[in-house]
Amino acid sequence: MKSWISFPRIEGLSSRQAHADLPQGTYERELGKEGFFGPATHMYHTHPPTGWIAWDGPLKPRAFDLVKLNHLSASPWDAVGVLHNANVKFRYWRFDGTMDHLARNADGDELLFIHEGEGDLFCDYGHLTFREGDYVMLPRATMWRIEAAQPVTALLIEATNDSFRLPDKGMVGKHALFDPAMLEVPHIDDAFKAQQGETETRVVIKRGGAFTTVTYPFNPLDAIGWHGDLAPVKVNWRDIRPLMSHRYHLPPSAHTTFTASRFVVCTFVPRPAESDPGALKVPFFHSNDDYDEVIFYHRGRFFSRDNIHPGMLTLHPCGFTHGPHPKALALAAKAQGGQMLDEVAVMIDSRDALEIGPMPEGVEWQGYVDSWKANPEAAE
Ligand SMILES: [Fe+2]
Repeated sequence: MKSWISFPRIEGLSSRQAHADLPQGTYERELGKEGFFGPATHMYHTHPPTGWIAWDGPLKPRAFDLVKLNHLSASPWDAVGVLHNANVKFRYWRFDGTMDHLARNADGDELLFIHEGEGDLFCDYGHLTFREGDYVMLPRATMWRIEAAQPVTALLIEATNDSFRLPDKGMVGKHALFDPAMLEVPHIDDAFKAQQGETETRVVIKRGGAFTTVTYPFNPLDAIGWHGDLAPVKVNWRDIRPLMSHRYHLPPSAHTTFTASRFVVCTFVPRPAESDPGALKVPFFHSNDDYDEVIFYHRGRFFSRDNIHPGMLTLHPCGFTHGPHPKALALAAKAQGGQMLDEVAVMIDSRDALEIGPMPEGVEWQGYVDSWKANPEAAE
């Protein structure tokens, strides 16, 4: 059994309630362990903790415009490897048409997030339609293929040697955020039966990062029925009813959608701004010192970030404080309580350091580290 070294103290001038009623003119920073669950201190600074003027060395905030990765790949196995470590792989896949083979990931569960497009997914378990905004979780080694009705851009998030789970929803209970009954599963329907037959079919299996092709003289998606509690599941961000408080800015952990052993997937969905006059209305400055943080911006206006558009991805490795951009901070000061914030974003917090894959020139926004510099002329 482990017990944190916990000894809450107050030193100097401080608010007693995190994220509210900050001492006049201060900037709050949360220094925290265990991804917003462990020991933490809230510190009240006289300067923004992101007010650096120079940065030298390999550790820095990174931003990538994935919209520029616009080539189509006929197989998910040709998707662009954006980020990876031993426990998670994050790939970006653009596809149009009909896959001419089945994919099978023997390295771990695969979570698809459909950024753009719509179509049909056929797998061992049946047929599932999908559209923009869907998560589709495919259990490890599921055979699947898609037929795109509209060009598809998808994030592929692999829980390497691991399984995706739902988070413990604690005292708000299992029906909060989304009811597990909202999870859609594939069906053995007419569309599924119609694609069955004696067509020679290739299955391309990924195991240990290497590929093996197995050919059948028939389509192995030939089940006529199944029962059990293992199957792909689908949920759309529109099905998520976010936790929020009008008096307290909840940490990102309140928006957890899926968990794995060494990372979590969170979803930020539209929600009203806090209305309490003393409550913070933008994410607090924080040093999430056990995690590398990734955010993929799906749609809407990202109220805590300047110059970020849908299709971009940011990586904030652990080891420095980050927080809202100066313009966002200024806007938050004027924000009306209850005003709807329309951002939709997918966040991955990884316990282990992430490596960045090779990407073409121009995809990375080299000036991102300087984007916190106060520059009123750059404001819209
Ligand atoms: Fe963060």
